[in-house]
Amino acid sequence: MKVVFSTMQKMHEEIKKDIVNKFNDVYDKGWYILGNEVSRFEKEYAKFIGTKHCVGVGNGLDALQIALLSLDIKPGDEVIVPSNTYIATALAVSNIGAKPVLVDPNIETYNLSANGIEEAITKKTKAIIAVHLYGQSADMNEINSIAKKHNLYVIEDCAQSHNSKYKNKKTGTLGDIGCFSFYPGKNLGALGDGGAIVTNDKKIEQKARAISNYGSIEKYHHDYKGVNSRLDEIQASFLRIKLKKLNKHTKARQDIANEYLTRINNEKIILPTVGKDRTHVWHIFAIRCKSRDKLQKYLEKNGIQTMIHYPIPIAKQKAYKKDKLNNTVVANKISKEELSLPLYYGMSKKEIDYVIDIINKY
Ligand SMILES: Cc1ncc(COP(=O)(O)O)c(C=O)c1O
Repeated sequence: MKVVFSTMQKMHEEIKKDIVNKFNDVYDKGWYILGNEVSRFEKEYAKFIGTKHCVGVGNGLDALQIALLSLDIKPGDEVIVPSNTYIATALAVSNIGAKPVLVDPNIETYNLSANGIEEAITKKTKAIIAVHLYGQSADMNEINSIAKKHNLYVIEDCAQSHNSKYKNKKTGTLGDIGCFSFYPGKNLGALGDGGAIVTNDKKIEQKARAISNYGSIEKYHHDYKGVNSRLDEIQASFLRIKLKKLNKHTKARQDIANEYLTRINNEKIILPTVGKDRTHVWHIFAIRCKSRDKLQKYLEKNGIQTMIHYPIPIAKQKAYKKDKLNNTVVANKISKEELSLPLYYGMSKKEIDYVIDIINKY
């Protein structure tokens, strides 16, 4: 039997008619940038998340960069970033000339908690980026109280946590500004690139909106040296269709994760844990195993596709060689032991049972 790591086949089959109709509608209207679909999606997504504002942007990396610029983070400033995240989180900081300062996550939840943050704070520190990695919220109470004590901004990287909650509030509402990616494989994905910034602060919203559009609020008046990073009408119209299904898609992911959590019982495998007060949305089902590479090969031989998030920690990436980022023990450990299991909307019971059975036999 073959089990792929992820596929959008069933999800997209179910909405194909709506997508094609919507495409025809937008196509016929002939308005492709900054129109009704984007502003409607922004309103609907803000309502769904629970913030006052949402600004559609080009992708998740841009969302983070624009967020940093909106908060006036400047070259030479330092921003705390978890050591185990997708490189985009660190790139957003270094791309604007600021310095990413890596802090190891909690090995239980794979996310930042209070540990290590205060030690990393210097006079140059301006913000903390809390990544809700794999679909589970970081410890936002601890992070927010440290930020408050040291007068730092909190940016949430929600690229993997659409619909995830902490103390019953959605990720994206827990800091000063939340940043989303709608890359196709995300829990809410477009059919191309897309991203969004959410916030309750009108001033931040206006600045982010301007920066994403050449620094301009009024046509040909440029208040900031902005960028061109806008969500387009076609992607926004598709996202509006998919947003309506997000609760259903999230529940399907949670059901699969529950099967894995209750039925994988192999002492060689460390299963993921869900921290207190958190609703995990399982963007990634990350297990750990001392003999990870052997396990991956064994699964592959049995037709089961897996992935590693992430095989090379940021501090060890060639791109950051000259930056001499601080060495990170937990990220190194995760990079050697982590394995992500297949989990997607439309995964059949047979496929789930097969993955569990094969893992239990390892
Ligand atoms: C944690 C994290 N942050 C940021 C991003 C960047 O998003 P995008 O690929 O839309 O630029 C990603 C996605 O790849 C991500 O996983």
